[in-house]
Amino acid sequence: MSAKATAIAPANIAFIKYWGARDLTRAIPNNPSISMTLERCFSRCTVEYLRDARVHEVLLAGSGGALLQPPIDFAKRILEHLDRLREATRATGAFRVATFNSFPSSAGLASSASGFAALTLAVAGALGLRLSDRELSELARESGSGSAARSALGGYVQWPAGDDEEHCYAVRIAAPEDWELRDVIAIVDDGPKPASSLVGHGRAETSPYYAVRQSLLPSRLARVRDAIARRCLADLGPVLEEEAIDLHLIAMSSRPPIFYWKPGTLAVLQAVRELRAEGFAAYATIDAGANVHVICDPKSEATIARRLDALIEVRAVVRDRVGQGPRLVDEHLF
Ligand code: DP6
Repeated sequence: MSAKATAIAPANIAFIKYWGARDLTRAIPNNPSISMTLERCFSRCTVEYLRDARVHEVLLAGSGGALLQPPIDFAKRILEHLDRLREATRATGAFRVATFNSFPSSAGLASSASGFAALTLAVAGALGLRLSDRELSELARESGSGSAARSALGGYVQWPAGDDEEHCYAVRIAAPEDWELRDVIAIVDDGPKPASSLVGHGRAETSPYYAVRQSLLPSRLARVRDAIARRCLADLGPVLEEEAIDLHLIAMSSRPPIFYWKPGTLAVLQAVRELRAEGFAAYATIDAGANVHVICDPKSEATIARRLDALIEVRAVVRDRVGQGPRLVDEHLF
């Protein structure tokens, strides 16, 4: 006997970054982070529960619908999470899984956040379990991808909500309808990152500036929350740029250092400053990678996308927006 479910979960872009952990395996962060959940960059995951099987199977769905064997590292993290979910739900069978990303997974656009949120929701769906937002967030976080805790919700999200280490989940601080921000993503590099986020978290505290960053974060967090509550991009923008530079300053001054930026990263940052000088409200942020997310309002989006696309350093532009969060859907991958 078997049951099948498919979930979609979006990626998210952090305004205040998760960098450094008290418990890296379970993704218990050193500091709270705030993100915007996206809409068009998402993972779709189909899970079939096979009651009489013992061994899981993981497949990668290509854009044409073909199901392929995934790279070993990719499959390993998924298999570990499937074991974790099997234990948490007291299921005894095994799962057959196929996963698909709407965006290039190699481009560092938080594919593990969307992937693990979609996987967790689809497993629950295949078992006939209904998870609350909080349960989905906590279970997705246990994958070790902390940002997956934020992809469990739509709109604007803070994680963790409080200080309780045993219950480290994300909460929504504003709905997508409250503020329709856009994210123009300039892809300047689609190769693998020089170091995974996991390596970066592990090294963060070796930076002599990490303690300074930690001391600045409470006021930065309050400024971001306040700007979101007032829907004020002129107040949000400078804080999110300051925060992005700070994250990379920590990475570059960690021992040994990690340089995520590429020449294209600087070209886009320069273009964003020029757009601002011309009166466009455009502000840049960068996760652990070289690609730049330009946060803007709907009326500036088309111009910003055109201008970034025209840069020779930019390989592609993805136009995304604040989105609704994960959901179960009927279109299965197999
Ligand atoms: C720089 O450990 O959640 O993006 O599992 O690779 O998605 P992945 O990374 P994770 O760390 C995210 C680091 C960050 C900042 C952030 O998203 O908060």
